[in-house]
Amino acid sequence: MITSTVISRLQMACDVVEIGVNMTGKGYGKTILFGEHFVVYGLPAIAGAIGSMTTADVEESNEYQLVDERPATPSYKKEKYDEQVESNKLIFDACGIKIDKVSLKITLGGDLVAASGVGASAASATAIARALNDHFGLGYSEDKINDIAYEGEKGYHGKPSGLDNTVSVFGGLIWFIKNLEGGCNTFEKLNMPKPVEIVLGNTGITSSTKEVVSDVKKKMDEKPDRFSDIFAQYERVVNKARIALIAGDLNDVGRLMDINHGLLQDILVSGRENDFLVEVAKDNGALGAKLTGTGRGGLVQALTPGVKLQDKVAKAIEAEGYTAYKTTIGV
Ligand code: MEV
Repeated sequence: MITSTVISRLQMACDVVEIGVNMTGKGYGKTILFGEHFVVYGLPAIAGAIGSMTTADVEESNEYQLVDERPATPSYKKEKYDEQVESNKLIFDACGIKIDKVSLKITLGGDLVAASGVGASAASATAIARALNDHFGLGYSEDKINDIAYEGEKGYHGKPSGLDNTVSVFGGLIWFIKNLEGGCNTFEKLNMPKPVEIVLGNTGITSSTKEVVSDVKKKMDEKPDRFSDIFAQYERVVNKARIALIAGDLNDVGRLMDINHGLLQDILVSGRENDFLVEVAKDNGALGAKLTGTGRGGLVQALTPGVKLQDKVAKAIEAEGYTAYKTTIGV
């Protein structure tokens, strides 16, 4: 329920905001273990929060300002700028606040490197939604923050599945199914016996989720039988992956990640650099490796249990001139 204080604060937001204290919101980065693109068509996906996040500081200012201090892949901020502007407007709209009437400075920061594939857009939408919630005392529940972050995600690509923002808000390892009828999505936290080390390799290429998702749709419309066969194969993979993750059978998880990567190649969302980094990771002992996120650039992820294997794979990726991030899933 919206209290009268909240209403008066919102009223002020419709004019000029003069009150409020500095607030910081946070959103986790994520990696998709299974199911990018397939999730858009109502198939289950499994994604995990990683140990890095985006922060959003909101403070009073003379005018509306967005300052982006996130570490990022060189081209990322420039290429995503227009989408980010649209996303912020959608977030404010969803909070019932007119963006052109507020005098707020929003500063994005944190240790999540803004790159395609790591859920950077969802993490920033989540962080901003949380900071606005605190600044205006909106009293939103976590579900409502998730809804608002989802609205923000629409700025980056018109019809997001909702997977990225859900992981960014709730963290952990998540089993997610998009509701194609438009109702509530299904999601569930999965428990692994213990966290596991992974390596994320950055191709350095920024991809457009909007473009790649719509290209997949076009290709699916051209070859529906081929796609329905690939979708059926994927569904078997993700169901087995769920069992393997819960059982802590990492060899099987890795094997299934490799198959998932092959299916992503089949729907033409992998790229030369993605395939190369997957090969480097596998040659150096990763139990499994695949692209993660949109594809055609962005990131790949390698399953590397134990810090020794994690170091080895990260160094091998770096030796090829790419950036590698060491992190953990299942925390
Ligand atoms: C992007 O991180 C994941 C995609 O499946 C798009 C989506 O889920 O909305 C490619």
